[in-house]
Amino acid sequence: MKSGYILDVQNVVVSFDGFRVLDSLNFTMNYGELRFLIGPNGAGKTTLIDIISGKTRPVSGHILFDGHLDTRHVTEHRLVQHGIGRKFQTPSIFASLTVFENLEVATGFKSPVERLLGRLPSDHKDAIEDTLQKIGLLERRHIRAGQLSHGEKQWLEIGMLLVQDPKLLLLDEPVAGMTRRERDRTGELLLDISKHRSVLVVEHDMQFVRQFASTVTVMHSGKVLSEGPVDVVQNDAKVIEVYLGRSHARVA
Ligand SMILES: Nc1ncnc2c1ncn2[C@@H]1O[C@H](COP(=O)(O)OP(=O)(O)OP(=O)(O)O)[C@@H](O)[C@H]1O
Ligand SMILES: [Mg+2]
Repeated sequence: MKSGYILDVQNVVVSFDGFRVLDSLNFTMNYGELRFLIGPNGAGKTTLIDIISGKTRPVSGHILFDGHLDTRHVTEHRLVQHGIGRKFQTPSIFASLTVFENLEVATGFKSPVERLLGRLPSDHKDAIEDTLQKIGLLERRHIRAGQLSHGEKQWLEIGMLLVQDPKLLLLDEPVAGMTRRERDRTGELLLDISKHRSVLVVEHDMQFVRQFASTVTVMHSGKVLSEGPVDVVQNDAKVIEVYLGRSHARVA
C-alpha cells in the first residue's frame, strides 16, 4: 500500500537493556521536506536515524519508506540503493584522495577499466561537477581531502551522498564544530538540497534551527513531544519544560 509520505514511522519500539529508547514512536515526513529534529540529550534522535537507515532494528512497529518499502527486512546497504543516504557526525572521507576523487569513488560506478584509462562516464562526470558547484568546492576539487577545513570536509561528505542521488538524506548534527559562516553556508546548502529531496536534520544549535527550519519535531524520552513551526514549538510549554525543567522560559 502506497502512503503519501517519504517516511512513515509507525509505533516503533527500540529497547536497550529493557529501557525503551524509542517508545511506540510515530513520525512522518512529506516528500520534499526539510525537517529539523531537536530534543535533549538521550531523547532518541540518533536512534531514530539508526532505525530509518537500517543500522538498528526495532523490536516492534515498522517503517515505510517512499510510500511502499517496508524497511524491516532490507539491509543497510540495500536501503542506500533504495535512496536513503545517511551522514554520521564524523566525516568518513578519504583523506589522501582529492575532493574530485572522493566524489568519484562515491558514485561507485567507475569500473576498473575506466579507472585504468582515467575515463569516467560523462553523466557521472556531470553529476560530480554539479555536486562540486552545489557544495562550494569546485575550486578545491584537486586538493587532497585531508587538507580541507572541518566545514569543507562536512560539505564533501554531503556531496558524496548527493552523487548517489538519494531520495532522503539523514544528517546527524552536521554543523557541530563549524564556524558561524560555515553554518550559514550549510543552511543554504540544505535549503537548496531540499528543493529536490527530503532532508532530516538532527540539530542542537537553536540559532541555526531558527534561521533555517520551517517544521521542527521535538523528541523527548523516545517519543515526539511537539511538532510544528519553529516559533510555535519554541513557545510550547511542554518543550520549555523538558529543556529547562521550568516553565515561562524560552528554548535557547
Ligand atoms: N547501543 C546502545 N546501547 C545501549 N543504550 C543505547 C545505545 N544507543 C543509545 N542508547 C541509549 O539510548 C538513549 C537515546 O540515545 P540517542 O543516542 O538516540 O539520543 P540522542 O537524542 O541522539 O542524544 P544526543 O543529543 O546526546 O545525541 C540514551 O539513553 C542512550 O544512552
Ligand atoms: Mg545523537
